[in-house]
Amino acid sequence: MDMKTDRIHLKAPGNWINDPNGFIYYKGMYHLFYQYFPYAPQWGTMHWGHAVSRDLVNWEHYGIALFPTKYEDQNGCFSGSAVENDGKLYLYYTGVHYDEIDSDNIHKCPENKFESAQMMICSKDGFSFDNFNGKKVIIPAVMDKKIADRTHTRDPKVWHGKDAWYMVIGSKTEDDRGQLLFYRSKDLMEWELANRVSKETTFGWMWECPDLFKTEGGNVLVLSPMGILKDGKREENHAVCMPVGFDEDTCTVEFSENFQFVDYGLDLYAPQSTIDEDGRRVLIGWMRMPEAVDGNWNGMFCIPRVVERKNTHIYFRVHPSIEQMYTCRINSPIEADEVGYKLVLDLKEGEMLDIGGYKIYRKENRICTDRTDVFAGHMDCRVKLETPEINEGYHLDIYVEKNLIEIFINNGEYVLSNVVYNLGEELYTELSGGLQIYTLDKK
Ligand code: FRU
Repeated sequence: MDMKTDRIHLKAPGNWINDPNGFIYYKGMYHLFYQYFPYAPQWGTMHWGHAVSRDLVNWEHYGIALFPTKYEDQNGCFSGSAVENDGKLYLYYTGVHYDEIDSDNIHKCPENKFESAQMMICSKDGFSFDNFNGKKVIIPAVMDKKIADRTHTRDPKVWHGKDAWYMVIGSKTEDDRGQLLFYRSKDLMEWELANRVSKETTFGWMWECPDLFKTEGGNVLVLSPMGILKDGKREENHAVCMPVGFDEDTCTVEFSENFQFVDYGLDLYAPQSTIDEDGRRVLIGWMRMPEAVDGNWNGMFCIPRVVERKNTHIYFRVHPSIEQMYTCRINSPIEADEVGYKLVLDLKEGEMLDIGGYKIYRKENRICTDRTDVFAGHMDCRVKLETPEINEGYHLDIYVEKNLIEIFINNGEYVLSNVVYNLGEELYTELSGGLQIYTLDKK
């Protein structure tokens, strides 16, 4: 069995990964599945890859958990989630079946014509999945356009509410607005449509990977709307979050007009959350990469982030199990562990730092970045990014690794993360205050 390991950031074990799926703390371990194309470093017929961790820091890859076996998932096992019941692990996902096969490439769907069904598979231990006999179609493709789209209805997220199980699915309306479908179940097998919700004003034409959860500060909705940012750059789909009201009895959502990007680097997409072993809400997202690294792997995940809501603002803080790893003080990035290092500083107006070609600076109240020199010429992507205006405090915790820089501003008030290529080892700063560099403790 493939026993590749990762530390801090989970990466494609080769070839291609996209969304995190089925993230759960189950029987003393974190299980993290992911959209996986095991044959080439590009998107194709989706499988679920599987990785396991005891601490959210060290990950062990367990190969393929789900693969196409049925009519309904013959062309892919799309995204979904996991819950535990009676000691068993239940996975929910979307099975896709293409209307036609492209004889030149069976892994891509011609003209996006396909059917989506919601499926389930149960495992007694979280490691064995009977792909041949254990799958069940729980919600067949919706054929009534007035209700939902037969193609664009996917990514079930399941949770236990007050006295029933709930599922939210991403979808679209007939007039191309993002839509959520809510289903309810008593037994995790039979599901009944409880409500459909959408925003009146257009906010993307389809909502992928919805995630709705309670925090101490109120409910949070995370979505990946398609076509939300059309500025001529390569990615139009982006992960957003917003404070919402949610009534379980009716499955109605009270939307707010304000939304935040989950990450202002605009590379993070399709995040998914779960509850960690200490009851925190922890979220992981896919970092989209325009090019495979060394020509052989594409796709990695961000650092696990703790989600908190205070009034109407949503914070994404570095998970403490990651934070506590960076305790070894060093003088220069050259001394860092190969997994990377962390910079801690306050950035004043007019100051800047250059991390091996990646530039971070202040423009009035915003933190800005420029990856022009470390992005392998991908100028069709966004290379200059910035946060919204920040009211006060410009404290930065910057986690640096070979292909990813994650900037946590004011302990997660905003996060800006960017994928990079061929980052240099040199560090140049123009700072008036102190700068601390930490790497992981040698183990
Ligand atoms: C988001 C997404 C999901 C879908 C999966 C397919 O990136 O498009 O909506 O289930 O990826 O790989």
